[in-house]
Amino acid sequence: MTGELLSIEVSNLTKRFDTVTAVQDLSFTIRPGAVTGFLGPNGAGKTTTMRMILGLVNPTSGSARIGGRRYRDLPRPSGTVGAVFDASAFHPGHTARNHLRTYAAMGGYPDSRVEEVLHLLDLGRVAHRRTRTFSTGMRQRLNLATALLGDPRVLLLDEPGNGLDPEGIAWLRDFLRELAREGRTVLISSHVLSEVQQIVDDVVVIRDGRKVVAGRLTELVGETASLEQLFLRLTSSRAAADRPPTDRLTTGRAAADRMEGAR
Ligand SMILES: Nc1ncnc2c1ncn2[C@@H]1O[C@H](COP(=O)(O)OP(=O)(O)O)[C@@H](O)[C@H]1O
Ligand SMILES: [Mg+2]
Repeated sequence: MTGELLSIEVSNLTKRFDTVTAVQDLSFTIRPGAVTGFLGPNGAGKTTTMRMILGLVNPTSGSARIGGRRYRDLPRPSGTVGAVFDASAFHPGHTARNHLRTYAAMGGYPDSRVEEVLHLLDLGRVAHRRTRTFSTGMRQRLNLATALLGDPRVLLLDEPGNGLDPEGIAWLRDFLRELAREGRTVLISSHVLSEVQQIVDDVVVIRDGRKVVAGRLTELVGETASLEQLFLRLTSSRAAADRPPTDRLTTGRAAADRMEGAR
């Protein structure tokens, strides 16, 4: 692993799908050595933005760069950026080890690296089990293991806290903080503010594809106030009352579970 410090720079990014503008003139910078929360209600444009950073979705306009280069211009893209999008995208009949070996083969990494990430994510004892038997927490850890195969300097994790209990969130916080301490750039999305407040150093909050606020969490909310209060204060003028409840940013664990159940 090289010790390169890589920022993610999003500049005036816009994405329109037919009639829907998913992301609109969005700009922000994600610094290395920190965990940044990319936050906003369901449908705010988080996944679309992360897919544009990876070159999986073409922007209508604007650009996203990692260490000054577009993803596709990176010398070793999959070894530089590890990404995870969908916690349920495993082949249900594959064991965790086979899942990782498949991805390792695609990235050109040896099977010994599979054993390393299994150990790192404490999945060694369940590596022989088929992923259909995995709990959400185990799936999230297998996702992280997959993203870490290439020992990437940059991690993009789409809703890695979904479905985790408080113990799982505490574990995720410690794990991601350690990765950031090593100088990596860690971006995690979430629609659950209370969950992310414990994990992140910085935040970028979006709504309806536009930036609401970005910066260091402590500077934005102070020592006592919560991220929920900040979000409500910043968006109260654009009345949330005229939205259906599922379109609002979820601010508590119980509400998050409701939303999970509603999918
Ligand atoms: N492939 C697509 N085609 C059409 N609309 C899309 C597509 N992908 C996302 N959208 C729309 O773009 C908006 C943002 O979606 P998304 O990026 O998934 O938000 P989030 O991840 O914050 O929940 C939503 O209105 C969604 O329906
Ligand atoms: Mg999403």
